Amino acid sequence: MDKAENKPAATAKSPAGLEGVVAAESSVGDVDGIRGVLIYQGLNIHDLAEHSTFEETVFLLWHGRLPKREELDALRRELAASQGLPEEVLALVRRIPRDAEPMDSLRTAVSALAFYDPRSRDLSREGALRTATRLTAQLSVLVASIERLRKGEEPVEPKPELNLATNFLYMLKGEMPSERVARIFDVCLVLHADHELNASTFTARVIAGTLAGMYGAVTGAIAALSGPLHGGANTNVMKMLLEIGSPERAEEWLRDALASKKKIMGFGHRVYKTEDPRSVWLRRFSKEMGEARGETRWFEILERLRELMFREKKLYPNVDYYSGSAYYLMGVPLDLFTPIFAVSRISGWTAHILEQYANNRLIRPRAEYTGARDVPYVPIDER
Ligand code: ACO
Repeated sequence: MDKAENKPAATAKSPAGLEGVVAAESSVGDVDGIRGVLIYQGLNIHDLAEHSTFEETVFLLWHGRLPKREELDALRRELAASQGLPEEVLALVRRIPRDAEPMDSLRTAVSALAFYDPRSRDLSREGALRTATRLTAQLSVLVASIERLRKGEEPVEPKPELNLATNFLYMLKGEMPSERVARIFDVCLVLHADHELNASTFTARVIAGTLAGMYGAVTGAIAALSGPLHGGANTNVMKMLLEIGSPERAEEWLRDALASKKKIMGFGHRVYKTEDPRSVWLRRFSKEMGEARGETRWFEILERLRELMFREKKLYPNVDYYSGSAYYLMGVPLDLFTPIFAVSRISGWTAHILEQYANNRLIRPRAEYTGARDVPYVPIDER
Protein backbone atom coordinates (compact mmCIF):
# COMPACT_ATOMS: atom_id res chain seq x y z
CA MET A 1 0.00 0.00 0.00
CA ASP A 2 1.29 3.45 -0.89
CA LYS A 3 0.80 5.17 2.50
CA ALA A 4 0.89 8.72 1.16
CA GLU A 5 -2.01 8.10 -1.24
CA ASN A 6 -3.72 5.26 0.66
CA LYS A 7 -3.84 3.40 -2.65
CA PRO A 8 -2.56 -0.09 -3.55
CA ALA A 9 0.57 0.56 -5.65
CA ALA A 10 -0.46 -2.03 -8.28
CA THR A 11 -3.55 -0.01 -9.26
CA ALA A 12 -1.66 3.23 -9.86
CA LYS A 13 -2.11 2.95 -13.65
CA SER A 14 -5.55 1.93 -14.88
CA PRO A 15 -6.31 0.76 -18.42
CA ALA A 16 -8.38 3.24 -20.42
CA GLY A 17 -12.06 2.38 -20.25
CA LEU A 18 -11.25 -0.33 -17.64
CA GLU A 19 -10.38 -2.67 -20.51
CA GLY A 20 -9.69 -6.18 -19.26
CA VAL A 21 -10.42 -5.26 -15.61
CA VAL A 22 -12.41 -7.92 -13.73
CA ALA A 23 -14.75 -5.86 -11.55
CA ALA A 24 -17.17 -8.44 -10.13
CA GLU A 25 -17.75 -12.14 -9.63
CA SER A 26 -20.88 -13.32 -11.41
CA SER A 27 -22.60 -16.54 -12.39
CA VAL A 28 -25.19 -14.82 -14.60
CA GLY A 29 -23.33 -14.96 -17.88
CA ASP A 30 -19.94 -15.10 -19.54
CA VAL A 31 -18.40 -13.92 -22.80
CA ASP A 32 -15.42 -15.69 -24.37
CA GLY A 33 -14.31 -12.99 -26.76
CA ILE A 34 -11.60 -15.08 -28.40
CA ARG A 35 -13.70 -18.12 -29.26
CA GLY A 36 -16.94 -16.14 -29.71
CA VAL A 37 -18.91 -17.99 -27.04
CA LEU A 38 -21.70 -16.46 -24.95
CA ILE A 39 -23.35 -18.35 -22.09
CA TYR A 40 -26.20 -17.53 -19.71
CA GLN A 41 -25.90 -19.44 -16.41
CA GLY A 42 -23.80 -22.07 -18.23
CA LEU A 43 -26.12 -22.53 -21.24
CA ASN A 44 -24.84 -21.67 -24.70
CA ILE A 45 -26.66 -18.83 -26.46
CA HIS A 46 -27.06 -20.99 -29.59
CA ASP A 47 -29.02 -23.62 -27.65
CA LEU A 48 -31.19 -20.94 -26.10
CA ALA A 49 -31.84 -19.23 -29.44
CA GLU A 50 -32.76 -22.59 -30.97
CA HIS A 51 -34.95 -24.00 -28.22
CA SER A 52 -35.81 -21.46 -25.54
CA THR A 53 -38.21 -18.56 -25.14
CA PHE A 54 -37.72 -15.16 -23.53
CA GLU A 55 -39.75 -16.12 -20.45
CA GLU A 56 -37.70 -19.29 -19.96
CA THR A 57 -34.49 -17.27 -20.36
CA VAL A 58 -35.71 -14.78 -17.74
CA PHE A 59 -36.24 -17.62 -15.26
CA LEU A 60 -32.81 -19.03 -16.10
CA LEU A 61 -31.09 -15.68 -15.51
CA TRP A 62 -32.85 -15.06 -12.21
CA HIS A 63 -32.69 -18.58 -10.75
CA GLY A 64 -29.55 -20.06 -12.29
CA ARG A 65 -31.31 -23.03 -13.94
CA LEU A 66 -34.02 -23.79 -16.48
CA PRO A 67 -37.57 -23.88 -15.05
CA LYS A 68 -39.75 -26.93 -14.69
CA ARG A 69 -43.03 -26.64 -16.63
CA GLU A 70 -45.06 -25.52 -13.61
CA GLU A 71 -42.40 -22.95 -12.67
CA LEU A 72 -42.47 -21.49 -16.17
CA ASP A 73 -46.27 -21.37 -16.11
CA ALA A 74 -46.13 -19.60 -12.74
CA LEU A 75 -43.66 -17.00 -14.06
CA ARG A 76 -45.86 -16.39 -17.10
CA ARG A 77 -48.87 -15.84 -14.82
CA GLU A 78 -46.89 -13.48 -12.57
CA LEU A 79 -45.64 -11.47 -15.57
CA ALA A 80 -49.18 -11.22 -16.98
CA ALA A 81 -50.50 -10.11 -13.58
CA SER A 82 -47.78 -7.43 -13.29
CA GLN A 83 -48.28 -5.73 -16.67
CA GLY A 84 -50.70 -3.00 -15.57
CA LEU A 85 -49.11 0.45 -15.47
CA PRO A 86 -50.07 2.89 -12.70
CA GLU A 87 -52.51 5.48 -14.09
CA GLU A 88 -50.19 8.23 -12.80
CA VAL A 89 -47.28 6.91 -14.88
CA LEU A 90 -49.45 6.77 -18.00
CA ALA A 91 -50.56 10.35 -17.24
CA LEU A 92 -46.88 11.34 -17.01
CA VAL A 93 -46.10 9.66 -20.34
CA ARG A 94 -49.00 11.57 -21.93
CA ARG A 95 -47.31 14.84 -20.94
CA ILE A 96 -43.89 13.99 -22.38
CA PRO A 97 -43.17 16.10 -25.50
CA ARG A 98 -44.07 14.16 -28.66
CA ASP A 99 -40.60 14.67 -30.10
CA ALA A 100 -38.78 13.31 -27.03
CA GLU A 101 -36.33 10.45 -27.57
CA PRO A 102 -38.18 7.27 -26.55
CA MET A 103 -35.14 6.19 -24.47
CA ASP A 104 -35.46 9.40 -22.45
CA SER A 105 -39.21 8.84 -22.04
CA LEU A 106 -38.59 5.27 -20.91
CA ARG A 107 -35.92 6.35 -18.41
CA THR A 108 -38.25 8.97 -16.91
CA ALA A 109 -41.23 6.59 -16.75
CA VAL A 110 -39.23 3.78 -15.13
CA SER A 111 -37.92 6.20 -12.52
CA ALA A 112 -41.52 7.27 -11.78
CA LEU A 113 -42.73 3.65 -11.40
CA ALA A 114 -40.99 3.59 -8.00
CA PHE A 115 -43.45 6.17 -6.59
CA TYR A 116 -46.34 3.77 -7.09
CA ASP A 117 -44.73 0.62 -5.77
CA PRO A 118 -44.96 0.59 -1.96
CA ARG A 119 -42.36 -2.22 -1.85
CA SER A 120 -39.81 -0.48 -4.06
CA ARG A 121 -37.27 -0.43 -1.20
CA ASP A 122 -37.64 -4.10 -0.32
CA LEU A 123 -34.22 -5.47 -1.28
CA SER A 124 -34.74 -8.96 0.15
CA ARG A 125 -34.42 -11.75 -2.43
CA GLU A 126 -38.19 -12.22 -2.45
CA GLY A 127 -38.89 -8.47 -2.62
CA ALA A 128 -36.29 -7.83 -5.32
CA LEU A 129 -37.58 -10.76 -7.41
CA ARG A 130 -41.05 -9.28 -7.18
CA THR A 131 -39.75 -5.89 -8.40
CA ALA A 132 -37.78 -7.62 -11.18
CA THR A 133 -40.99 -9.35 -12.32
CA ARG A 134 -42.91 -6.07 -12.33
CA LEU A 135 -40.17 -4.25 -14.24
CA THR A 136 -39.81 -7.03 -16.82
CA ALA A 137 -43.58 -7.09 -17.39
CA GLN A 138 -44.01 -3.31 -17.41
CA LEU A 139 -41.10 -2.26 -19.62
CA SER A 140 -42.64 -3.77 -22.76
CA VAL A 141 -46.03 -2.18 -21.97
CA LEU A 142 -44.30 1.15 -21.35
CA VAL A 143 -42.35 1.11 -24.63
CA ALA A 144 -45.48 0.22 -26.64
CA SER A 145 -47.49 2.92 -24.78
CA ILE A 146 -44.79 5.57 -25.33
CA GLU A 147 -44.93 4.83 -29.06
CA ARG A 148 -48.75 4.88 -29.26
CA LEU A 149 -49.11 8.09 -27.24
CA ARG A 150 -46.51 10.05 -29.19
CA LYS A 151 -48.41 9.14 -32.38
CA GLY A 152 -51.59 10.49 -30.76
CA GLU A 153 -53.08 6.99 -30.35
CA GLU A 154 -54.35 5.33 -27.19
CA PRO A 155 -52.26 2.51 -25.67
CA VAL A 156 -53.44 -1.02 -26.47
CA GLU A 157 -54.17 -3.22 -23.43
CA PRO A 158 -51.88 -6.27 -23.26
CA LYS A 159 -53.51 -9.70 -23.68
CA PRO A 160 -52.58 -11.85 -20.68
CA GLU A 161 -52.63 -15.08 -22.72
CA LEU A 162 -49.84 -13.90 -25.08
CA ASN A 163 -46.12 -14.26 -24.44
CA LEU A 164 -44.10 -11.08 -23.93
CA ALA A 165 -42.73 -10.92 -27.49
CA THR A 166 -46.11 -11.38 -29.20
CA ASN A 167 -47.78 -9.03 -26.75
CA PHE A 168 -45.25 -6.31 -27.41
CA LEU A 169 -45.76 -6.41 -31.19
CA TYR A 170 -49.52 -6.60 -30.68
CA MET A 171 -49.56 -3.57 -28.35
CA LEU A 172 -47.34 -1.61 -30.71
CA LYS A 173 -49.54 -2.01 -33.78
CA GLY A 174 -52.91 -3.03 -32.34
CA GLU A 175 -52.85 -6.15 -34.53
CA MET A 176 -51.47 -9.64 -34.08
CA PRO A 177 -48.07 -10.38 -35.65
CA SER A 178 -47.63 -13.58 -37.67
CA GLU A 179 -46.38 -16.56 -35.68
CA ARG A 180 -43.03 -16.46 -37.49
CA VAL A 181 -42.44 -12.75 -36.85
CA ALA A 182 -43.39 -13.22 -33.20
CA ARG A 183 -40.92 -16.11 -32.90
CA ILE A 184 -38.12 -14.12 -34.55
CA PHE A 185 -38.81 -11.28 -32.13
CA ASP A 186 -38.86 -13.69 -29.20
CA VAL A 187 -35.42 -15.03 -30.18
CA CYS A 188 -34.14 -11.44 -30.54
CA LEU A 189 -35.21 -10.88 -26.92
CA VAL A 190 -33.38 -14.08 -25.88
CA LEU A 191 -30.23 -12.92 -27.69
CA HIS A 192 -30.18 -9.48 -26.03
CA ALA A 193 -31.03 -10.65 -22.49
CA ASP A 194 -27.59 -10.56 -20.90
CA HIS A 195 -24.00 -9.80 -21.73
CA GLU A 196 -21.87 -9.91 -18.60
CA LEU A 197 -20.49 -6.57 -17.36
CA ASN A 198 -21.41 -4.37 -20.33
CA ALA A 199 -21.66 -0.63 -19.61
CA SER A 200 -25.35 -0.57 -18.65
CA THR A 201 -25.16 -3.69 -16.46
CA PHE A 202 -22.09 -2.32 -14.71
CA THR A 203 -24.00 0.92 -14.12
CA ALA A 204 -26.89 -1.05 -12.62
CA ARG A 205 -24.53 -2.96 -10.31
CA VAL A 206 -22.75 0.20 -9.14
CA ILE A 207 -26.10 1.77 -8.22
CA ALA A 208 -27.40 -1.42 -6.58
CA GLY A 209 -24.09 -1.69 -4.72
CA THR A 210 -25.00 1.41 -2.69
CA LEU A 211 -28.18 -0.47 -1.66
CA ALA A 212 -30.30 1.95 -3.68
CA GLY A 213 -33.55 0.48 -4.99
CA MET A 214 -33.98 -1.54 -8.19
CA TYR A 215 -35.96 1.17 -10.02
CA GLY A 216 -33.06 3.59 -9.59
CA ALA A 217 -30.51 0.99 -10.75
CA VAL A 218 -32.58 0.24 -13.87
CA THR A 219 -33.13 3.95 -14.55
CA GLY A 220 -29.35 4.43 -14.59
CA ALA A 221 -28.89 1.37 -16.79
CA ILE A 222 -31.38 2.74 -19.35
CA ALA A 223 -29.41 5.99 -19.52
CA ALA A 224 -26.17 4.04 -20.09
CA LEU A 225 -27.75 1.85 -22.76
CA SER A 226 -29.01 4.84 -24.74
CA GLY A 227 -25.56 6.01 -25.87
CA PRO A 228 -24.43 5.38 -29.48
CA LEU A 229 -21.36 3.42 -28.33
CA HIS A 230 -23.65 0.96 -26.52
CA GLY A 231 -27.31 0.07 -27.28
CA GLY A 232 -27.90 3.23 -29.30
CA ALA A 233 -25.84 1.77 -32.15
CA ASN A 234 -28.73 -0.33 -33.55
CA THR A 235 -30.71 2.78 -34.52
CA ASN A 236 -27.62 4.36 -36.03
CA VAL A 237 -26.92 1.29 -38.18
CA MET A 238 -30.37 1.62 -39.77
CA LYS A 239 -29.81 5.36 -40.29
CA MET A 240 -26.56 4.46 -42.04
CA LEU A 241 -28.35 1.95 -44.32
CA LEU A 242 -30.98 4.54 -45.24
CA GLU A 243 -28.23 7.06 -45.99
CA ILE A 244 -26.33 4.59 -48.21
CA GLY A 245 -29.56 3.59 -49.96
CA SER A 246 -28.27 0.86 -52.30
CA PRO A 247 -25.61 -1.91 -52.25
CA GLU A 248 -23.76 -0.25 -55.17
CA ARG A 249 -23.08 2.82 -53.03
CA ALA A 250 -21.78 0.87 -50.02
CA GLU A 251 -18.09 0.78 -50.96
CA GLU A 252 -17.77 4.47 -51.78
CA TRP A 253 -19.72 5.44 -48.66
CA LEU A 254 -17.52 3.30 -46.45
CA ARG A 255 -14.29 4.59 -47.95
CA ASP A 256 -15.38 8.19 -47.35
CA ALA A 257 -16.50 7.38 -43.80
CA LEU A 258 -13.24 5.63 -42.93
CA ALA A 259 -11.19 8.38 -44.55
CA SER A 260 -12.91 10.92 -42.30
CA LYS A 261 -12.14 8.65 -39.29
CA LYS A 262 -15.81 7.93 -38.58
CA LYS A 263 -16.73 5.03 -36.31
CA ILE A 264 -18.89 2.68 -38.34
CA MET A 265 -21.89 1.78 -36.22
CA GLY A 266 -22.46 -1.92 -35.51
CA PHE A 267 -18.78 -2.89 -35.85
CA GLY A 268 -16.19 -3.62 -33.19
CA HIS A 269 -16.49 -4.77 -29.61
CA ARG A 270 -14.53 -4.37 -26.40
CA VAL A 271 -14.58 -8.11 -25.69
CA TYR A 272 -15.16 -10.00 -28.96
CA LYS A 273 -12.12 -10.33 -31.17
CA THR A 274 -14.07 -12.69 -33.45
CA GLU A 275 -17.65 -12.97 -34.64
CA ASP A 276 -20.28 -12.14 -32.01
CA PRO A 277 -22.34 -15.37 -31.73
CA ARG A 278 -25.56 -13.34 -31.49
CA SER A 279 -24.96 -11.76 -34.88
CA VAL A 280 -25.06 -15.22 -36.51
CA TRP A 281 -28.76 -15.42 -35.61
CA LEU A 282 -29.53 -11.79 -36.27
CA ARG A 283 -27.98 -12.03 -39.75
CA ARG A 284 -30.34 -14.93 -40.51
CA PHE A 285 -33.33 -12.92 -39.32
CA SER A 286 -32.32 -9.84 -41.28
CA LYS A 287 -32.07 -11.97 -44.44
CA GLU A 288 -35.32 -13.82 -43.76
CA MET A 289 -37.29 -10.63 -43.03
CA GLY A 290 -35.88 -9.02 -46.20
CA GLU A 291 -36.93 -11.99 -48.33
CA ALA A 292 -40.36 -12.20 -46.66
CA ARG A 293 -41.00 -8.48 -47.28
CA GLY A 294 -39.46 -8.45 -50.79
CA GLU A 295 -36.93 -5.81 -49.65
CA THR A 296 -33.47 -7.37 -49.67
CA ARG A 297 -31.38 -4.25 -50.21
CA TRP A 298 -30.75 -3.57 -46.51
CA PHE A 299 -29.34 -7.05 -46.07
CA GLU A 300 -27.28 -6.68 -49.25
CA ILE A 301 -25.77 -3.40 -48.01
CA LEU A 302 -25.04 -5.00 -44.63
CA GLU A 303 -23.25 -7.93 -46.27
CA ARG A 304 -21.23 -5.65 -48.53
CA LEU A 305 -20.16 -3.46 -45.60
CA ARG A 306 -19.31 -6.54 -43.55
CA GLU A 307 -16.92 -7.85 -46.21
CA LEU A 308 -15.33 -4.44 -46.68
CA MET A 309 -14.91 -3.74 -42.97
CA PHE A 310 -13.23 -7.09 -42.46
CA ARG A 311 -10.90 -6.44 -45.38
CA GLU A 312 -10.08 -2.87 -44.36
CA LYS A 313 -10.15 -2.98 -40.54
CA LYS A 314 -10.41 -6.67 -39.53
CA LEU A 315 -13.50 -5.73 -37.52
CA TYR A 316 -16.58 -7.96 -37.07
CA PRO A 317 -20.23 -6.94 -36.70
CA ASN A 318 -21.60 -6.76 -33.16
CA VAL A 319 -25.12 -7.48 -31.84
CA ASP A 320 -26.39 -4.10 -33.04
CA TYR A 321 -25.44 -4.63 -36.68
CA TYR A 322 -28.28 -6.79 -38.04
CA SER A 323 -31.05 -6.35 -35.45
CA GLY A 324 -32.23 -2.94 -36.68
CA SER A 325 -32.89 -4.08 -40.25
CA ALA A 326 -35.03 -6.98 -38.94
CA TYR A 327 -37.03 -4.64 -36.67
CA TYR A 328 -37.36 -2.08 -39.47
CA LEU A 329 -38.90 -4.72 -41.72
CA MET A 330 -41.32 -5.59 -38.89
CA GLY A 331 -42.50 -1.97 -39.14
CA VAL A 332 -40.84 -0.79 -35.91
CA PRO A 333 -39.73 2.90 -35.93
CA LEU A 334 -35.96 3.48 -35.81
CA ASP A 335 -35.82 5.19 -32.43
CA LEU A 336 -37.62 2.26 -30.82
CA PHE A 337 -34.80 -0.19 -31.52
CA THR A 338 -32.85 0.77 -28.38
CA PRO A 339 -35.95 0.73 -26.11
CA ILE A 340 -36.56 -2.80 -27.46
CA PHE A 341 -33.02 -3.68 -26.37
CA ALA A 342 -34.05 -2.51 -22.88
CA VAL A 343 -37.26 -4.62 -23.01
CA SER A 344 -34.96 -7.64 -23.25
CA ARG A 345 -31.92 -6.50 -21.22
CA ILE A 346 -34.12 -5.75 -18.20
CA SER A 347 -33.83 -9.49 -17.50
CA GLY A 348 -30.02 -9.38 -17.37
CA TRP A 349 -29.91 -6.09 -15.45
CA THR A 350 -32.26 -7.42 -12.79
CA ALA A 351 -30.38 -10.76 -12.60
CA HIS A 352 -27.17 -8.82 -11.89
CA ILE A 353 -28.91 -6.54 -9.38
CA LEU A 354 -30.29 -9.61 -7.57
CA GLU A 355 -26.77 -11.05 -7.49
CA GLN A 356 -25.35 -7.76 -6.21
CA TYR A 357 -27.93 -7.47 -3.40
CA ALA A 358 -27.35 -11.11 -2.41
CA ASN A 359 -23.63 -10.58 -1.79
CA ASN A 360 -23.13 -6.86 -1.65
CA ARG A 361 -20.07 -4.76 -1.17
CA LEU A 362 -20.04 -1.09 -2.16
CA ILE A 363 -18.36 -0.64 -5.56
CA ARG A 364 -15.88 2.17 -5.07
CA PRO A 365 -12.71 2.05 -7.16
CA ARG A 366 -9.94 4.66 -7.21
CA ALA A 367 -8.96 7.17 -9.88
CA GLU A 368 -5.45 7.75 -11.12
CA TYR A 369 -5.00 11.41 -10.17
CA THR A 370 -3.41 13.43 -12.97
CA GLY A 371 -4.00 16.93 -11.58
CA ALA A 372 -1.78 19.35 -9.66
CA ARG A 373 -1.05 19.15 -5.92
CA ASP A 374 -0.28 21.72 -3.21
CA VAL A 375 -1.98 24.52 -5.16
CA PRO A 376 -2.17 27.61 -2.89
CA TYR A 377 -5.60 29.13 -2.29
CA VAL A 378 -5.58 32.66 -3.75
CA PRO A 379 -8.26 35.03 -2.45
CA ILE A 380 -10.77 35.98 -5.14
CA ASP A 381 -9.64 39.62 -5.51
CA GLU A 382 -6.02 38.57 -6.04
CA ARG A 383 -6.59 36.08 -8.89
N1 ACO B 1 -15.50 1.74 -36.91
C1 ACO B 1 -14.24 2.09 -37.24
N2 ACO B 1 -13.17 1.82 -36.48
C2 ACO B 1 -13.39 1.18 -35.33
C3 ACO B 1 -14.67 0.78 -34.92
C4 ACO B 1 -15.75 1.08 -35.75
N3 ACO B 1 -17.00 0.72 -35.43
N4 ACO B 1 -14.58 0.15 -33.73
C5 ACO B 1 -13.29 0.14 -33.41
N5 ACO B 1 -12.58 0.77 -34.35
C6 ACO B 1 -11.13 0.96 -34.37
C7 ACO B 1 -10.80 2.21 -33.56
O1 ACO B 1 -10.78 3.37 -34.35
C8 ACO B 1 -9.46 1.85 -33.00
O2 ACO B 1 -8.50 2.00 -34.02
P1 ACO B 1 -7.06 2.65 -33.70
O3 ACO B 1 -6.45 1.67 -32.71
O4 ACO B 1 -6.42 2.70 -35.02
O5 ACO B 1 -7.35 3.97 -33.07
C9 ACO B 1 -9.56 0.36 -32.71
O6 ACO B 1 -10.54 -0.13 -33.64
C10 ACO B 1 -10.01 0.05 -31.29
O7 ACO B 1 -11.24 0.74 -31.05
P2 ACO B 1 -11.69 1.35 -29.67
O8 ACO B 1 -12.72 2.40 -29.93
O9 ACO B 1 -10.50 1.72 -28.85
O10 ACO B 1 -12.38 0.08 -29.02
P3 ACO B 1 -13.22 0.09 -27.71
O11 ACO B 1 -13.09 -1.27 -27.14
O12 ACO B 1 -12.91 1.24 -26.83
O13 ACO B 1 -14.72 0.34 -28.23
C11 ACO B 1 -16.78 0.00 -29.26
C12 ACO B 1 -15.63 -0.66 -28.53
C13 ACO B 1 -17.31 1.19 -28.44
C14 ACO B 1 -17.90 -1.00 -29.40
C15 ACO B 1 -16.29 0.48 -30.66
O14 ACO B 1 -15.92 -0.64 -31.42
C16 ACO B 1 -17.32 1.31 -31.38
O15 ACO B 1 -17.41 2.51 -31.17
N6 ACO B 1 -18.17 0.67 -32.26
C17 ACO B 1 -19.22 1.39 -32.93
C18 ACO B 1 -20.41 1.56 -32.00
C19 ACO B 1 -21.14 0.27 -31.77
O16 ACO B 1 -21.43 -0.48 -32.68
N7 ACO B 1 -21.48 0.03 -30.49
C20 ACO B 1 -22.25 -1.15 -30.08
C21 ACO B 1 -21.38 -2.13 -29.32
S1 ACO B 1 -22.30 -3.56 -28.84
C22 ACO B 1 -23.24 -3.03 -27.54
O17 ACO B 1 -22.85 -2.22 -26.77
C23 ACO B 1 -24.59 -3.54 -27.39
